[in-house]
Amino acid sequence: MSKRVEASQDSESARLQDIVSLCKRRGFIFQGSEIYGGLQAAWDYGPLGVELVGNIKRAWYEAMTRDRDDVVGLDSAILMARQVWQASGHEAGFNDPLVDCKNCQERYRADHLREDQEKLGIGYDVCPNCEAKGTLTEPRQFNLMFKMNFGPVADDNSIVYLRPETAQGIYVNFHNVQQSMRRRVPFGIAQVGKAFRNEIVTVNFIFRTREFEQMEMQFFVEPGTEDEWFEQWREIRWGWYRAVGMNMDHLHWHQHGPDELAHYAKAAWDIYYDFPFGSKEMEGIHNRTDFDLRRHAEFSGKDLTYFDDQANKRYVPYVVETSVGVGRMALALLCEAYSEDVVDGEKRVVMRFAKNIAPVKVAVLPLSKKEPLVALAKEIRRDLRHVGLTQYDETGGNIGKRYRRQDEIGTPYCVTVDFHSLEDQQVTIRDRDTTEQRRVPIADLPAILSADLRG
Ligand code: GAP
Repeated sequence: MSKRVEASQDSESARLQDIVSLCKRRGFIFQGSEIYGGLQAAWDYGPLGVELVGNIKRAWYEAMTRDRDDVVGLDSAILMARQVWQASGHEAGFNDPLVDCKNCQERYRADHLREDQEKLGIGYDVCPNCEAKGTLTEPRQFNLMFKMNFGPVADDNSIVYLRPETAQGIYVNFHNVQQSMRRRVPFGIAQVGKAFRNEIVTVNFIFRTREFEQMEMQFFVEPGTEDEWFEQWREIRWGWYRAVGMNMDHLHWHQHGPDELAHYAKAAWDIYYDFPFGSKEMEGIHNRTDFDLRRHAEFSGKDLTYFDDQANKRYVPYVVETSVGVGRMALALLCEAYSEDVVDGEKRVVMRFAKNIAPVKVAVLPLSKKEPLVALAKEIRRDLRHVGLTQYDETGGNIGKRYRRQDEIGTPYCVTVDFHSLEDQQVTIRDRDTTEQRRVPIADLPAILSADLRG
């Protein structure tokens, strides 16, 4: 996006900046290779970021596999034979059109450039950054795959690519999974894993990065039933966002027009999220027809048909794909969660994560650093380990400050251990969202918090 377009979205980009700085300050996300000046579009997930994305991946994987009878998991290798990408069409056609401004050296994706020009109401021959006229180059095709050599000899025979999508690992294992698991079509294969794209333009924090993770599922169906399954999967995927705490008003459908469709897709609908920098794609749901299996059968010489012994029919299954980026999802949930309010006359930042997504579930806070309070608080923390990740904080600062620290990372519950706890064996549970407090017996704490965190 150009600098002028960004400038026109000041308050929203301030909000994004607040989120980026909270992510660094509180150990969610750091700039990659930061001590060397940072590697553009590479980000490292800190201790709380790892928990956040772990919870997202777990929620997705459970919804896709454990909660259903017809989808199984896979973890295929990132590096695959070069023929995979020749068959899939990525080697020849996974390109983005690249445009440079000869005056200011700003680099654009041609489709994004046009969007920026339209937003600014300037001509198609004007650079949105420096506003020079006639300085933009003709679009050049640029392949997004990272190319490398496999083994010690760097020649044409050793070329491999870092996978730009996880889906192909599923297609090449279609028969392995179907036969080893004795699966009947329709069934799906789900996979979470890294993907790599040498993106031309990478802005907006973790929205578009060169290394990212995808959560993808390929659902194999009998030809002729794909439209019905496509609609079912649209509905299923839409419903999932509610379960991870998304405000559904911030999501929208976008149907791909003929000029937007990927080379493999007959139909595609995206789920868009209202990011602070605009409404953008978060997930794609694609009807990939039998394109991939047919191409792999052709290129490998292997039979990738399915025989339905009940109907006595042989066919190449059609595929409905759902695909969402983990980082993009994390960014959307960070944006959803970030809020500011006033408690006891003081401004607080509170991350209102859904409980299943919050990195830390419970914090145990003794009112004093002295014994025997500390021993009791540590014992309480030990007993709470099974309810989810806990934090223990006896560091200085009044209890209000320690609550704020937990609010800022979205911990749903704080347990305060005070001197009365030693006598009445009770503690105070403080709720992140309402800030209400209730006194409960220590003996009941694990059961109460487990139930509340599920609720
Ligand atoms: N297998 C189909 C496929 O890869 P895609 O629309 O190119 O389709 C699917 O990508 C999802 O992967 C996107 O909706 C987005 O969430 C995520 N994604 C794609 N490129 C990304 C990038 N450079 N950085 C972060 N996430 C990305």
